[in-house]
Amino acid sequence: MKLIIHGGFFSESRTNQEVKHAKQEALNEIVQLGHKYLQSHNAIETVVYTACLLEDCDLFNAGTGSQIQSDGKIRMSASLMDGKTMQFSGVINIENVKNPIRIAEKLLPMEDKVLSGKGASEFALHNGYGYYNPETPQRRHEYEKRLSDSIRLGTIGCVALDFYGNLAAATSTGGKGFEMPGRVSDSATAAGNYVNEFAGVSCTGVGEDIVSGAVAPKIVTRVTDGMSLQLATVKTLNELKPFNGFAGVIGISVNGDIYHADTHPYMVWASHDGQVEVFN
Ligand code: GLY
Repeated sequence: MKLIIHGGFFSESRTNQEVKHAKQEALNEIVQLGHKYLQSHNAIETVVYTACLLEDCDLFNAGTGSQIQSDGKIRMSASLMDGKTMQFSGVINIENVKNPIRIAEKLLPMEDKVLSGKGASEFALHNGYGYYNPETPQRRHEYEKRLSDSIRLGTIGCVALDFYGNLAAATSTGGKGFEMPGRVSDSATAAGNYVNEFAGVSCTGVGEDIVSGAVAPKIVTRVTDGMSLQLATVKTLNELKPFNGFAGVIGISVNGDIYHADTHPYMVWASHDGQVEVFN
């Protein structure tokens, strides 16, 4: 049983040791809670549970503490994929919910599996997910000061391999910060979150680059065709170089390989395969 999580890029400030330690501690605690949960739950249940913990931690740009868009509003995106059933579900630009990944979970067995904007927000409300304002004073301060450089690259993600050998992935984001209303993140597309029976991948970084590079499905397809997870990840991220694509990836393959990589310094992550490892 294996679990890997990410909390986006460490872009607040490379010299801000306090923020770095806070993120290390948070990821350490969450990966341990997620791995404990995985002992008695399947992969899909575990990635939802773990993504909720990450969404609830205001250090990361997803759920509580999401970035604010150019018009002053928060719109969040999240998706979920089950490698066993090959079902994908998600919400795009949903507003005023606590855990966007829970709405994606609700949509997984439904006929219409990806909802956007007003439709997604109304679906959440009608299904008992009460009104919640995910804004924090820190994000409002950053927005008002236009601290755009410091905040543009956050997402959270999680990939799990359960006792039965099934894989699942979840990814959630508040977007880039300052984006135009209506802009669509990679996090609620297959490009940013993709799994099958051979491998699962969650991405972070610049959504436009991740979509252009079709990052997650390329890695998963390469592993399916026999490449190792590590080679598949390195090859796929190298293909972003011609346009200086900005992406980070976490993944697990069905044979138990865990791997993470990024194109720029640096993604924050933690993994648990019996032993805990946290980014440094
Ligand atoms: N990867 C998050 C975003 O670009 O919205």
